[in-house]
Amino acid sequence: MTYAAITGWGSCMPPAVLTNEDLSTFLDTNDEWISSRTGMKERRVSHVSAIEMSTVAAKRALACAGLDPADLDLVIYGGVSNDELCPNSASGVQLALGATKAAAIDLNTACTSFCYGLATATAMIRTGMVRNAVVIGVELISRYMDWSNRNVAVLFGDGSAAVVLQASDHEEGMLGSVLGCDAEARQTLRVRGFGCTYAGRDISFGDTLWDFDGQQIFKRAVNAMAAASVKVLADHGVSAEEVSLVIPHQANLRIIESVAKYAGIPMEKVIVTVQKYGNMSAATVPVALVEALETGRVKPGSWILMPAFGGGLTYCSLLVKWGSRVTPLGTSDAALPPCNETALDMVNRVRANQDPHGRSLAGLMAPRFAETRPGE
Ligand code: UT7
Repeated sequence: MTYAAITGWGSCMPPAVLTNEDLSTFLDTNDEWISSRTGMKERRVSHVSAIEMSTVAAKRALACAGLDPADLDLVIYGGVSNDELCPNSASGVQLALGATKAAAIDLNTACTSFCYGLATATAMIRTGMVRNAVVIGVELISRYMDWSNRNVAVLFGDGSAAVVLQASDHEEGMLGSVLGCDAEARQTLRVRGFGCTYAGRDISFGDTLWDFDGQQIFKRAVNAMAAASVKVLADHGVSAEEVSLVIPHQANLRIIESVAKYAGIPMEKVIVTVQKYGNMSAATVPVALVEALETGRVKPGSWILMPAFGGGLTYCSLLVKWGSRVTPLGTSDAALPPCNETALDMVNRVRANQDPHGRSLAGLMAPRFAETRPGE
């Protein structure tokens, strides 16, 4: 039997920090509301493209695995943030890595994209299609955030991380998964402005209007992640007590606490990064995994649960059996170029582009988006 061992890991976080206080300089919000409702204190804003972040993360993961990029068979780029839709982003990472024989796939299931990518690559390795894969979770949401909407602008951040998967005879890696989609609620999280729907409507990239029913998403997310976690554990005969770590999607501390409670797992076993990085969508789970490894919280042979949800509303829970190695085989000197702007300056630049006349963005955009609801 072939398994897909996780042999390398690396993250790439942009250095510029956007605090709750920064957000309150242009939104009617405050640190007390954001911290108490979400657990978030800070998030990052990237000065480079999503492909550049992904490339640094992937190089670090490859060095950790001791794998030459030329030996990669597959690059999966998981996320919603693409530099362009064609050519896809995975091809940009493949080129930057020099992974010349690798297939290159973009995979978008919103915040679950990394986890779906991990499941996909694992299946491809276990069935013998490929032997060596890199799976990336990345987002660059700051470039298309509707910075005039406090319901969403305070929640999200940029970041990236990657893992290397390799065929192995040892029973390890992702051994179980529950993947699903609560599609009836797909309109509860919608970024209007992307895609063919908006062609020819005087909407340029970065102009967005977010439909976001936070309370509906909250309830459905907790139910779906908890049920998927209970099912994946039952399917594989693993008890909640046997789980060493939970590495959940980081959308809200209260969601994480509720899922842990329903799954019967104490918060001491849960990795939480939401306070410093906010919701990085597809990047939250791999960034938290890398942090868990770098802080010694992943022990050889441990069971790790990865529940996630996102736009769609896609959801999942993955069950991973860690292998014997928890330390890197090597390190990479890949790094981002220096950042010469503050996070707030970068956000203000995006805001200025979105609203060049100094008018309220919602007022400016709503009439143009109002006509764009085909197929509903
Ligand atoms: O990864 C997938 C995406 N993530 C999610 O979908 C997250 C899921 N949802 C949530 O995390 C929570 O529902 C939120 C954090 C988004 C909102 O928390 P909530 O406790 O459900 O608040 P609420 O939506 O019920 O809003 C309460 C009040 C409202 O005012 P009124 O109507 O009571 O006067 C909002 O207008 O808080 C107001 N509010 C804010 N106030 C200050 C909403 N956003 C803000 C803000 N600052 N940023």
